[in-house]
Amino acid sequence: MLKLIPMVLDIKNVETKALKEISQAKSNKSLESLRIKYLGRKSGVLPEITRQIPKLPKEQRNGVGTEINNLRAKLESLLTQKTNPEIATKETGFDITTPGKQIDTGSVHPITTVMDTVKEIFHSLGFSWIDGPEVELDAYNFQKLNMPPNHPARDVQQTYYIDRELLLRTHTSSMQVRYMENHKPPIRVLFPGRCYRRDMPDSTHLPSFYQIEGLLVDDVSKMSDLVGTLDYFAKAFFGKNTKTRVYGHHFAYTEPSIEMEVYYPEKGWLEVLGAGMVNPIVLKNGHIDPNKFRGWAFGMGSDRLALLKYGIGDIRILYNNDIRFLNQF
Ligand code: DAH
Repeated sequence: MLKLIPMVLDIKNVETKALKEISQAKSNKSLESLRIKYLGRKSGVLPEITRQIPKLPKEQRNGVGTEINNLRAKLESLLTQKTNPEIATKETGFDITTPGKQIDTGSVHPITTVMDTVKEIFHSLGFSWIDGPEVELDAYNFQKLNMPPNHPARDVQQTYYIDRELLLRTHTSSMQVRYMENHKPPIRVLFPGRCYRRDMPDSTHLPSFYQIEGLLVDDVSKMSDLVGTLDYFAKAFFGKNTKTRVYGHHFAYTEPSIEMEVYYPEKGWLEVLGAGMVNPIVLKNGHIDPNKFRGWAFGMGSDRLALLKYGIGDIRILYNNDIRFLNQF
């Protein structure tokens, strides 16, 4: 049994004794028994002294805990240092020097970075964003966007049909009417997400890709706001000296419709998105009165933006899951 008084002196004695025994220990086994003798939870010397502390007269308690902790740390590190790893392997069948497993945290995929950047830019203009279904009704993907069955615009957006009414959405424009049906203007929202088309894979096409759609509906909204906003976006995304131009186009769900191009010194003008004033028929399909409200919308391919921004020549590289490529971003 340990003497209660004087405690600090006891600790000093314990230390001297323990250090001597450790230095004389010749095998891992004897080191392990010293560990149990001094540090073992149940009957080790140090835990035993710790248990005595509350019984000490108050004036002797001060600093005893710290002394014990310091000694414990010292003994632990000595015991670990002296334990021979090779013998330990033999005794335990486990190589304690094997480095731990490296857990690879990976990096953010360039398309995700692009989507986040676009969201961030439009967020600063008051746009929120919301996901939508990738398995979509033909009604939202085509019909309510003014593309009835057999409309020629469907030809360039062929897709996989689950049944006569259900398909894999060909564009994020499918969210326009879905959203309008449940929200009143003013509306400022992005619809990012995955889309599908029956396209042969090549350097610029894949059967699955990402888009970001934007929709604004308000009592005043003009084509000039749309063009100004898209130009602002292009400069924020590609750099402040970026030049843009728009020209007339045709989409069934916008009237009038435009496309926007961005100027690349090495490559010339490259198309980055389609847009336009929301067709009054589409507003009506979304239960919004076209005599009171007007809107504009745009849609762009996130993969395309990633290719342009990072100077990648082939869209397929983005999906090869080659860590060496993806880690560059
Ligand atoms: N949905 C079109 C596409 O996938 C892009 C687009 C064009 C979206 C015009 C729009 C728009 O919102 O107004 O090619």
